[in-house]
Amino acid sequence: MSVLSGKRILLIVGGGIAAYKCLDLIRRLREQGAAVTPVMTGAAAEFVTPLSVGALAASRVYSDLFDREDEQDVGHIRLAREHDLVLLAPATADRMARVANGLAEDLAGAILLATRAPVLMAPAMNPAMWDHPATRRNHRRLLDDGIGFVGPGSGEMAEKGEAGTGRMAEPLEIVAAAEALLAPRKRPLTGLSAIVTSGPTHEPIDPVRYIANRSSGRQGHAIAEALRDAGARVTLVSGPVTLADPRDVAVRHVETAAEMLIAVEAALPADIAVFVAAVADWRVAAESSRKIKKTGDGPPALALAENPDILSTIGHHDRRPGLVIGFAAETDDLLANARGKLARKGADAILANDVSPGAGAGGGVMGGTENTIRLVTAEGVEEWPTLAKEAAATRLAEWIAARLGRTETA
Ligand SMILES: Cc1cc2nc3c(=O)[nH]c(=O)nc-3n(C[C@H](O)[C@H](O)[C@H](O)COP(=O)(O)O)c2cc1C
Repeated sequence: MSVLSGKRILLIVGGGIAAYKCLDLIRRLREQGAAVTPVMTGAAAEFVTPLSVGALAASRVYSDLFDREDEQDVGHIRLAREHDLVLLAPATADRMARVANGLAEDLAGAILLATRAPVLMAPAMNPAMWDHPATRRNHRRLLDDGIGFVGPGSGEMAEKGEAGTGRMAEPLEIVAAAEALLAPRKRPLTGLSAIVTSGPTHEPIDPVRYIANRSSGRQGHAIAEALRDAGARVTLVSGPVTLADPRDVAVRHVETAAEMLIAVEAALPADIAVFVAAVADWRVAAESSRKIKKTGDGPPALALAENPDILSTIGHHDRRPGLVIGFAAETDDLLANARGKLARKGADAILANDVSPGAGAGGGVMGGTENTIRLVTAEGVEEWPTLAKEAAATRLAEWIAARLGRTETA
């Protein structure tokens, strides 16, 4: 039996040529046992008739935000809340832009902003529109907001002689994506709490200058999200990064290593701690309260002082989390250094990655999109293939669940 059986799906039909495929999509969703409530945008009604949509859905078609009868009980909020999934197909470039900016000037917009159900979009547009920097930006934003996407695919477009990416996914692909989104997820870490650190630290020299490193925070943020998806309550302590805060994660923003340690200790007790941040080993011993001027006497001598070692402090803490994991970015003697850190810092596992120039695809490990990890524990070394940072994060969450004997919890 399909996971869609008995599910209530709110289908928002957008105003694009691909709207005709929605008629088949409604049939396919109902074949799987879903109940479909259709909402049509003003533009959608230019492409397909509400009569066909309503007849195939065996439901009333909604389209007006200011409907006097429906809105006596604030009907748009009810529609937004009473469904298990909100599906937008076709998602036009215009609609993606509006949703990315939180606009709610029509019924579809108000529902998309008010719903707490998962949202799945099936974009369809001319390839030039899909490739436009504004659409790229809106797509990234929507992904960051937790919206799921299916397609677009590549191929010939409605416009004569045009090809590229922009074709709406076929109805059966959309059904499969809806099933994947609604399939019950395993949440083996339910009931556990986790602290994750991410990003670089900035160690001030004076009010305008600081010492930093190339960490982007991508790996740490991905791990916070993977642990959240596995059911853990996550506190993410993040250095300065340009990434959006992950949803449903408590985020503490810090700048320096000292602030990071304070925020981590404030988040104790926890069951799991994963220290991914590239914490500066040193800070400037005497930060100048005024901008250091060029004097003509040569460069200033910057005396450095050692920063607290967060992994080691928490690894030996009287409120030490049950599982403490550190990252080791190394350019030389990767495994020997990781093994040394494991014992010295009181960690249960060290994820060693090679950050020497040229190592790792996707633009190098620090700041790149991929990571090649070796997981070092007292029992031995696991070599992981090169993975996208998100995939490496999922694999780590699975490893943590197995290590804690929690693989069976659904
Ligand atoms: C013939 C025609 C075809 C269109 N096809 C598309 C399309 O495939 N994708 C798209 O993003 N916009 C398309 N548009 C533009 C949208 O209809 C327009 O941006 C509209 O504001 C979308 O509103 P909606 O998303 O609320 O339905 C098309 C317009 C016309 C006139």
